[in-house]
Formats: sequence, structure tokens, C-alpha cells
Amino acid sequence: MKSKNAYDRIEKLKKEINDHNYNYYVLNKPRISDFQYDVLLKELIDLEEKYPEYRTDDSPSRRVGSDITREFRQVKHKYPMLSLSNTYSEEEVYDFNKRVTGALGREVDYVCELKYDGASISLTYKDGTLDTAVTRGDGEMGDDVTNNVSTIRSIPLKLRNNYPPEFIIRGEIFLPVDGFKKLNDELVKKGEQPFANPRNTAAGTIKMQDPSIVASRQLDCYLYYVLGENLPFDNHYDNLQKAREWGFRIPGEISLCKGMSEVMDYIKQWDVKRETLPFEIDGVVIKVNSIEYQEKLGSTAKSPRWAIAYKFKAEQARTKLLSVTFQVGRTGTVTPVANLEPVSLAGTVVKRASLHNEAQIKLLNLHINDTVYVEKGGEIIPKIVGVDVNEREDNAEVVEFINHCPECGSPLRKLSGEASHYCPNIYECPPQIKGRIEHYISRKAMDIDGLGEETTDLLYRSELLSDIADLYTLRKESIAELERMGEKSAANILKSIEKSKSAPFHKVLYALGIRFVGETVAKLLADHFGSIDSLSEAGYDELINVPEIGDKIAGSIINYFKSPNNIEVLERLRKYGVNMESGGQKKVESDILEGKSIVISGEFDKHSREEYKSIIEENGGKNVSSVSSNTSFILAGRNMGPSKREKAEKLGISIMNENDFLKLLKKI
Ligand code: IVH
Repeated sequence: MKSKNAYDRIEKLKKEINDHNYNYYVLNKPRISDFQYDVLLKELIDLEEKYPEYRTDDSPSRRVGSDITREFRQVKHKYPMLSLSNTYSEEEVYDFNKRVTGALGREVDYVCELKYDGASISLTYKDGTLDTAVTRGDGEMGDDVTNNVSTIRSIPLKLRNNYPPEFIIRGEIFLPVDGFKKLNDELVKKGEQPFANPRNTAAGTIKMQDPSIVASRQLDCYLYYVLGENLPFDNHYDNLQKAREWGFRIPGEISLCKGMSEVMDYIKQWDVKRETLPFEIDGVVIKVNSIEYQEKLGSTAKSPRWAIAYKFKAEQARTKLLSVTFQVGRTGTVTPVANLEPVSLAGTVVKRASLHNEAQIKLLNLHINDTVYVEKGGEIIPKIVGVDVNEREDNAEVVEFINHCPECGSPLRKLSGEASHYCPNIYECPPQIKGRIEHYISRKAMDIDGLGEETTDLLYRSELLSDIADLYTLRKESIAELERMGEKSAANILKSIEKSKSAPFHKVLYALGIRFVGETVAKLLADHFGSIDSLSEAGYDELINVPEIGDKIAGSIINYFKSPNNIEVLERLRKYGVNMESGGQKKVESDILEGKSIVISGEFDKHSREEYKSIIEENGGKNVSSVSSNTSFILAGRNMGPSKREKAEKLGISIMNENDFLKLLKKI
């Protein structure tokens, strides 16, 4: 494509995609399918990669997320981010109205809104472009999470129509219930701890280091407050409606209420209707509409006097505990589940509740047939919050945690410092074997199509699959013979298995299902070590020196490579052609540090430690974590660790400062 044509096409695609975003997120009226949308976006990304000179900061491709930033810049809020005073009682809402009307000497209009349960965000727009997105922080200062927030498709990067030249708009980033359930299902499948509720997930996600993971989590954002000097209207309600025209997702469930009886109707209506919403709310916010009156009422140090939040009570139900069963996950973790007499709670019938672990059972002192209280606060999975001991039967049987795996009978183990029990029979316990294969196949791992849970189970029972490497030995005839399978599906499965051989190394690493190695960690490890061989050779110190890798993950990786069984599977995977190294991803700048083992210690001014680590690798050197006689030199910053200095001096290893190091590499 000629450069001019590429420019025109990029501009056209940007405009088209922005229009589709508006139709989809603001008007709720998509005009094209998700697939067609993805095709447009992919074309834009490809073109921008080819012609980076035409890439702009407001391009919708920024939402896909790519660069890894390690630390968030702190930003001072132009207007402090206050919180709302809360109440659970209608009485206090009347008191609030009395205070407002008393101070102003007249009745006022209120705007009632839902209180979205997520993480608040403050967006600054300059000349119609998203400038910064900052978290609440301590109300005065917050984290600059613009890169992450840019991946949320319902937040416009570029505005439409007549917007003020500069303004701030605040809102709540949240994870819709469906997205939350999906994410947790995936985590549970991976043997990882699920998130407690959508709010924690949203708040945790926008503070993640890798925007591409943020992009994958289906976060959404509702805006509820416009601030600035040149706003179009003198009242909150009209400004919000106007902001919708600029491209913001302004919730439809806002009501302009004249008088307290309309406010109370709104509260009552949403206390019931909230169950039908695709996202969680924890109450209703009542705000004085007129900006002039808001300013007259002012704020206390903590919250505005012109608004109040009425919070719904967490819903509880009473029911009977029928039995406790124990589930074994992919990594062998045993989770106790309470089976309950079905009871209606917050719009659904609850039959089961999570009991987390042995400590939780002990804490509740649970007995079979106990009358229990189940709560569905923010949490999707209901939990047992208490027992009515007065209702306990005499001689009731106490709930005991099991000692043996309910699936394979092996004695269970518990690691010190961990809350969960696990079944150590990794290679023979059926749910663990099947779980590992299902995980390997899953979309985010090797993405092998056509092999669902049922087929995997069938292949396992027919003894065609007993580990992940067996996938590559499957033959068309043997798959085709299975129940509900035919030549065609068998051929498709084989094709997809073949394709998985070209999956990048970080996906393979994730697919192996090493405990605690989720997608993000797999990516970090793949980037850092570049191959399965160098990862398997890494010692504990080297592992925990990788940013974000802690004790638990390092221990789990070392354990994984200790097992002859795993080594055998890895060797077979390699033999069948599965990618065991990153290949061609490493940037090479020079070979000045070829053969040098370098230890980094202390704090630096010109680059971060992480940047220095990359610089060392890009120039042929190797990062090592501890000082030994093999260390070539130490790159030392301020406050170098005293034990490292002592050891270096004892072994006669030279210590180089930041400037000399950069001079050596001809960087200054
Ligand atoms: S207005 C000064 N409106 O609740 C008033 N807040 O404790 C600013 N929230 O941190 C807040 N829904 O994150 C407002 N419709 C809504 C809201 C809302 C949720 C959150 C917000 C804030 C917290 C207040």
C-alpha cells in the first residue's frame, strides 16, 4: 500500500471504529457483529504496525494494550476525590434532605443514581482527547493508570461534538457479572484462587502492570460526575446527558426527582430491581442537582454535603446444611463445598456455598443439619456467614475435613503457611490429569479447538490420553471411533493440535499448568528466561529476582522441574515440535557484555533496575542475583546491599557505578 493510501485508510478505520464504539457502548445499538469489529480493529493494528508514523495516541488500537509499565506515576487531583457519606436507613435520607433544605432555605431537585460497585476513576480530557486517567488514591493523589484505562472500550479516547476544551469526568470502572463469572471459572480451572467479588477484581485489574491483561478482562465504565470551569449547564443532570453526546457511557438509570417521595420511590424500586442488572450495585446515590446549590452547601473534609449514598443491606437467607462434599481441582487443591437445602436468595436459588478450607469449617464449628445463614454480599458465590446454634440437633455430627482424596484415596497434604489441603497424587488422580489436559487445551493456553471437557474425558477413559504430550500421539482413526465423533471432527481436532505446535513459548509455559504460573507470570518468565531450558536451570535466587516473582511462585517452579515425570512430558512435547523457546524476540544491541555475569544492586537514577536488566541482556550479558567468584562485576547504585558489598570486596570483584556502566556501553 502506498504511504498516502495507508494514511487515509488508517484515518478512515479510526473514525469507523470510534463510531462503532459509540453505537455499541453509548447507544447500545451495535451496527456490526463482534467479528466484523475485530476484523476492522485488526486491520488498523496491522497498518499501524507497518506505518508507525501514522499511529496517534487517540487511536482505538490503543485499547488492545501492549507496553508493560512497572510503576504508576503519582498525580495530584485538580479537585480532591471525596467519598460519600453513607447510610442504611431511610430515616437518615430524610435527615439529609432536612439539612439541605434548611441550609438553602428552599426545596431542591435531586438526581438519583445507582451506586456502582467498582473502582472510581478520574479522567481528564484536553481538546477532546483523553489526557490522563487517575485512580482515587488517597483522594488527593492517585495513580496514573492511563495506559490501562485506555484499553476499556467504553471510555472514549477522542470525543465527539461540542465538548469544553478541558474538563474532568469521574466514574466507576466495574466488571459486569458475566465477565466476572467467566474470569473466575477460568481461574478455578487453572487451580488458582478465584476473586472474591467483581469490585475487587475491577480495582485489582486497573492497577495491573500489563495493559494487555487489562484489555482481556471486559471492564466497563459508567461516568457519574462532570467537573470543570466551562461546563455547558448549571446543573448535574443536564451536564451528564450532554456528556453522553460527547461519547461517554452515561447510565440510563438516572432519575431527576422532585421531592423526597420520588427519591424514596427510586430507592425502593432499585432495592428490588437491582437483581436484574448485569452489574453489581451496592446502593443509590442522591445528589443535589443545581451546581450553584452544590457549591453553596460545600463539603466537609471527607464528603460533599450535597450528596448521600443510601446503601442496600447485604442479603441473607437461612437454610439447612445437608452435607459437605470435597472437590479436587487441577492442581490437586481440595475445596469443601456446602450442599444446602435450596433457598431463594437475591433472586436466585442457592443450593451450594463455598466453605473455602478447613479453617473456615472450624471457625463456623459446622455440624450436619445445622441451620446456617447464607449471604450474597458482593460475592457471586454465596458463603456461609453464621450458624444458628440454638437450632442444632442433639448429637449432631460435626463436619470434619477429610484425610484422603475423595477421587483417588491418597492421603492429603497441607503445606505450612497455606490454607488449603491438596492431593499429592499428581499423575494418577483423575481430576488432576483431566484438569491439566483441559487447561492445556483451553483458549488462553494452546487454544486447541474441538476438544471440550466431554471429549477429553472420553479420550481419557479410552486410555488414549493420560498426559498433555499424548495429545500429539492421537490418531485420526482412534478419535473417529469414539462416541459422537466422526472423521470430520477427528480431522479438525488433529488440525488444531498440529496448529498448537506454533503457539508462542509464553502460551506453552502457561499451558503447562505449573502452580501459580498464570498468564501474566508465564509472560514475565518467558520474556526473562527465553526458553524452557534456562527457566529449568534457574535457581531460587534468580527466580525471585524477576520482578513480581515471589517465594511461592519460585518454589512452585523449582518443584515442577524436580519431577522426572514433568521432565519426561516436556521432552516429549519438545520432540513432537512444541515451542520451547521464545525465539527471535530478544533485542540485541551489542556483544560488549558477552560472557559477563553481572549482579545489580542498589537504587539508580538514570534507569530502573528492570531497564538495567534488559540493557545487560541486550548487550550480551547475563543477570545473576548473588555475588560469587564467577561474578564479572557489580553494577551498583545508591544504598547497595552491605552483604553484597562485603562479599564483593572479599572476592575482589569490581564495583561499577551507573555512569561508568553507561559509558562502557557508549550510552553517554
Ligand atoms: S458521586 C463527590 N455517584 O462511591 C461525589 N459516586 O463513597 C463523588 N460511586 O468513590 C461521587 N456510584 O467511586 C458518585 N453514581 C455515583 C456513584 C459513586 C458509585 C462510588 C465512587 C465513590 C464512592 C463514594
